[in-house]
Amino acid sequence: MKATTRSIRALKGKRPIVCLTAYDAITARIADQGGADLILVGDSLGNTVLGMEDTVGVTLEMMVHHTAAVVRAKPDALVIADLPFALAHDNFPNLLKSCRTLLQKGGAHGVKIEGGTSLAPAIEKLVDAGIPVMAHIGLLPQRVHSTGYRRRGLTPADQQKILADARAVTAAGAFSVVIECVDEKLSQQLTSSIDIPTIGIGSGIGCDGQILVIHDLLGLTSNPPPFVKPEANLHRDAVSAVKRWASKVRKVSRR
Ligand code: KIV
Repeated sequence: MKATTRSIRALKGKRPIVCLTAYDAITARIADQGGADLILVGDSLGNTVLGMEDTVGVTLEMMVHHTAAVVRAKPDALVIADLPFALAHDNFPNLLKSCRTLLQKGGAHGVKIEGGTSLAPAIEKLVDAGIPVMAHIGLLPQRVHSTGYRRRGLTPADQQKILADARAVTAAGAFSVVIECVDEKLSQQLTSSIDIPTIGIGSGIGCDGQILVIHDLLGLTSNPPPFVKPEANLHRDAVSAVKRWASKVRKVSRR
């Protein structure tokens, strides 16, 4: 059955929600056939598959290109596309245009936006325009140049800020919220304080669901974050397969 923002939201309190990134039709099929409820076309595509240092260089055009590839796999999972670096801070007509492009040209079912309280008014207007929004709070990778990749919620003041962010995006109408790299106790508190699903990454088991970068899970990346326990080592297996084939090719003499 095709997932919808409503079906994902309804899973809160019923069973854990399984989310994975995908960036093309192949990874989308793997995630979908493996049973993911939601596929995120994350801007992590920059550092995961495009060879970038971080997500800052990922553009709207890149997101549309990769989202369309994921959608062509026709997954049952809900497909959400990341809004790239700083576009959420554009004026509202431009923000609406960017999100519309991700839905109309990319075929996404909704957008993910990094940011909390300060973006709540924009999230409310997007939701009012019929654009489902998944919020993203805690560590915000798009802010690598301002705050770095620090774990969040280490002080009572920061915990209060993150709690306020969670409440603000919920009140603004987000259908779910990614919680990145916060302490498990805080993620539990966030989960019980809001009525939308919390999807954790590096935040322990206190959330309503979990998300990982699929290449990290499958062992395709060389340095996954410390909280990932890869379930396969596809990089090693692929290199071995290429080596076996290369040696067969080299053994065949030309007559
Ligand atoms: O870009 C991304 O892939 C993400 C998730 C891993 C949460 O933001």
